[in-house]
Amino acid sequence: MNATDSLESALADLEALRASGRSALAQAQDSAALEAARVEHLGLKQGRLKTAQERLKSLEPAARRDYGRAFNEVKAELEQALEDARNRLAHATVQVEPVDVTLPGIRPRIGRLHPLTLTMTELKNIFGRLGFSVAQGPEVEDVWHNFEALNIPESHPARDPLDNFYLAAGAGIGQRAMLRSQTSTVQIRVMEKQPPPVRVIAIGRVYRPDTVDATHSFMFHQIEGLMVERGATMADLKSVLSLFAQAYLGTEVKIRFRPSFFPFTEPSVEVDMLWHGKARWVEMGGAGMVDPNVLRAVGYDPEEVSGFAFGLGVERLCMRRYGIDDIRLFYQNDVGFLRQF
Ligand code: PHE
Repeated sequence: MNATDSLESALADLEALRASGRSALAQAQDSAALEAARVEHLGLKQGRLKTAQERLKSLEPAARRDYGRAFNEVKAELEQALEDARNRLAHATVQVEPVDVTLPGIRPRIGRLHPLTLTMTELKNIFGRLGFSVAQGPEVEDVWHNFEALNIPESHPARDPLDNFYLAAGAGIGQRAMLRSQTSTVQIRVMEKQPPPVRVIAIGRVYRPDTVDATHSFMFHQIEGLMVERGATMADLKSVLSLFAQAYLGTEVKIRFRPSFFPFTEPSVEVDMLWHGKARWVEMGGAGMVDPNVLRAVGYDPEEVSGFAFGLGVERLCMRRYGIDDIRLFYQNDVGFLRQF
């Protein structure tokens, strides 16, 4: 080695060491590679930094000061690069670490049945115990089942197109199609298909162009009951509805019939219920003895058999049961509300 090393070449070597050290430390992909890069550049015995430090002695005393400053800078920089590389690898290790089974899990959000679904299931169960089976009918109906067979003549105001949702002609239904405005349509469909005796309920959606408010909706659910056999009377109707009301709403509930009119029952009544501790009777639906015209329309003989029918609002029952004061809550998919059931 020259007795007088040149400052220029020493600084150039230092620069090369800086570049080599930085890239080796930054590129190390695992702790073995990092250790090799550390030993090569920062190793205390034979590392390149150590060698560069010793070179100080071979420089002219006047050059030592500049060299020393540059050396300290490179040393600090490589030490920092080593620490950065260690942090980077430690972090990467955490990411590939296996699952810590002692951590608390992510609780899955468990779904539940909609209150109306719960209610309809319960209604089916209660009427099942009373001997009623479940019948089904379409929500898209024809005019025959929604009106004609139910003794609702062309001139009846219930036929008003503004009071019903009609579907455009050619919807594949043949006749003019509409969304059913009551589940009484299913009475007709059942009786068309089978001879008496009949003892069925039908539950489902019905559609009316009502303005939506706390107690009205353009779509809601009804439960319809129909019993036709030899000698069925209004007393049977009242017993069935009382038994039902007590089973669903509690033994303290009372029911009352109020004279009314429906084209398909004669006589017809409104069904009111009174809850224990409440002062006001609440109307829950309509009922009556099946009109002889309806029995004739489906080919039954009104001299042979008689029957009763009733229709109750599912939402109303559910609202009474749980103390819900706004029908719109059923349709808004508010999880905070639905979670309570
Ligand atoms: N369908 C009637 C309504 O929607 C209720 C009803 C059903 C009345 C059965 C009598 C018999 O208002």
